[in-house]
Amino acid sequence: MSRIAYVNGAYQRHTEAAVHIEDRGFQLADGVYEVCEIRHGFIVDLTRHLDRLDRSLRELRMAWPMTRSALILVIREVVRRNRVRNGMFYLQVTRGAARRDHVFPAADTPSTIVVTAKRIDASAIAKKNAAGIRAITVPENRWDRVDIKSVGLLPNVLARQAAKEEGAQEAIFVDRDGTVKEGAATNVWIVDKEGRLRTRHAEYGILRGITRTTLKDVTAAIGLEIVEEAFSVEDMLEAREVFITAATSICFPVVAVNGKTIANGHPGSVSQKIREAFFDIAEKTAI
Ligand code: PDD
Repeated sequence: MSRIAYVNGAYQRHTEAAVHIEDRGFQLADGVYEVCEIRHGFIVDLTRHLDRLDRSLRELRMAWPMTRSALILVIREVVRRNRVRNGMFYLQVTRGAARRDHVFPAADTPSTIVVTAKRIDASAIAKKNAAGIRAITVPENRWDRVDIKSVGLLPNVLARQAAKEEGAQEAIFVDRDGTVKEGAATNVWIVDKEGRLRTRHAEYGILRGITRTTLKDVTAAIGLEIVEEAFSVEDMLEAREVFITAATSICFPVVAVNGKTIANGHPGSVSQKIREAFFDIAEKTAI
């Protein structure tokens, strides 16, 4: 079965699907995206992902490529056509194709919309969860508007690559004042020395992760309290647990940071409880 992608009004074979060479996403990273999990045949947290898409588009003064209800139909169709029951969909909206110029193109330039879906091997995720992952820290070098889910991800790309080259799976951005921001593609949490579940506030400086938001519902349901308070690299190294969250993986325990073992080097119980409860609590939209 060949994969199918939706591009600007047409369902195309994935291998042949393409956007214009002067697409502003390609030339200027002038676009936004969302990644959403599909689990057991349901789209997870679709409303929150589309609300964040709306916010990203508004912040960048970009138009929706179609109505929200039409986009939901397209997403479900792409997921169905690719027969994804466990995996993810990716969507990207750009300011369209126009002769290269930094200023916005004419107002009637249609935005570009791409939707793809792929399967993810659940056993690979389970394995990673059982073993835990390793992370490194890197200095924050991104722009101030990381609250917008923009496709301009070069610092994140370089950070993840640096992690890989050091035998780690995530890179964690650290601010000049020594506080932890977020991972290259994840939010970061700790259970601190006092046993408090902590994550940095999301007013600015990080992406307000949808998984992060849904974790508030999950923790409330299982009787855990979240403290939104910045923490330092030292706090993280001394923590009882460190874990990261993102759509498609929910949460992964971090068992070593910069080569230093966290607690006893094994995944902690809090992240496991959260992982177990997550799907029941999250919003589920049938494909
Ligand atoms: N990344 N922070 C950053 C910088 C991210 O790129 C992501 C998601 C998150 C977690 O957000 P959410 O819980 O909504 O997935 C935090 C996606 C998965 C990606 O770029 O592939």
